[in-house]
Amino acid sequence: MEVLVAEHAGFCFGVTKAVDTVYEQIESGNTMNIYTYGPIIHNETVVSDLEKKGVRVIENADDLQKLIAEKEKNSEGGDLQGTIVIRSHGVTKEVQKLIEETGLEIIDATCPFVKRIHKVVAEESSIGKSIIVVGSANHPEVEGIVSYVTGPVYVIDSPEKAREFNESRELEYTVVAQTTFNRKKFQETVEIFKNIGYNINIVNTICNATDERQTEAEDIASKADVMIVIGGAHSSNSRKLYEICKEKCAETYFIQTLEDLHLNLTGNVKLVGITAGASTPKNIIEEVQNYVRTNF
Ligand code: F3S
Repeated sequence: MEVLVAEHAGFCFGVTKAVDTVYEQIESGNTMNIYTYGPIIHNETVVSDLEKKGVRVIENADDLQKLIAEKEKNSEGGDLQGTIVIRSHGVTKEVQKLIEETGLEIIDATCPFVKRIHKVVAEESSIGKSIIVVGSANHPEVEGIVSYVTGPVYVIDSPEKAREFNESRELEYTVVAQTTFNRKKFQETVEIFKNIGYNINIVNTICNATDERQTEAEDIASKADVMIVIGGAHSSNSRKLYEICKEKCAETYFIQTLEDLHLNLTGNVKLVGITAGASTPKNIIEEVQNYVRTNF
C-alpha cells in the first residue's frame, strides 16, 4: 500500500508568518502581555501551546472595549502594557480602530493577499462600483473585507446564491473572492453573473497557496482509495479541502489530530492520500503519515 502526502499540505505563507510572529514575541523575552485578536490559527493544539506560554486571546470587540475601559480606569490615560498580534485573516476597520485605542503595541500579521483585497474593494467602491464578495459572510476574513467597502456590498457563498441574486442590472459590480474559496465554484459563480447579464469586473483574489493546495488535493483524491484531510474543525479552508476530496474519493476522512482517525483499511486499498489545511502544523501531518505507514 502506498501513502502519498501532498506537497502543498499544512501551513501556508500567511499562517506561518502569523504563528512565527507570536513565537518570536515569546522568545524575544517580552515580559509584557502578549495578545492575539482571535485564535492565531484554527488549530487547538497550537493555540493551547501558546496559552501555556502566556499568550492571551482577545475574542471580540467587547473584550477590546473592556481593555480600553480598564486602561482609562487604571492609568489616567496611560497606555496598556503589551503587544497584540493581528492574525492572517485581518480585522474589520472598526476593530482596527478599537485595537489602536487600547494603546497596545500592534503587530499586524494580516496576510498581504488579504490586505490586497481590502485595497481593491476600497478603491473600487470609492469609484462607485458595487462589490460582490464570494465567500462566507460570517468568516472573519470576509467581515474584514466587507468593512473596507464604502458603498453597496453583497456576500454570496455559492453558485446557487448567484442564481438568486436580483439587484439592479444598471450598476457596475466588482467581484472578489475570499482567499480560500473553492476555485471551481468561484468560476461557476462568476459565469452565472455574466450569463444573467450583470456588468461585472472580476478580480480573482483566491490566493495561490489555496489554489495549489486544492488542485493537488483533488488530483490525489481522484487516484486514492482512501483520503485523509487534516484540519481544524473551524477552519473553513480545511472544510473546503474536505469537500473537494470527498467529491473524488468517497472514503475521505476529516480529522483534526491522529486521535480522530479510526481507519479500517481492507486489502483492496492501494493508495492512501493525505493533505492538510493551512492551519495544520507539520508535526501533526507527520504523525498521521507515520501512523498510516507503520500500521497498515
Ligand atoms: Fe494568506 Fe493564502 Fe494563507 S491568503 S493566509 S497565504 S491561504
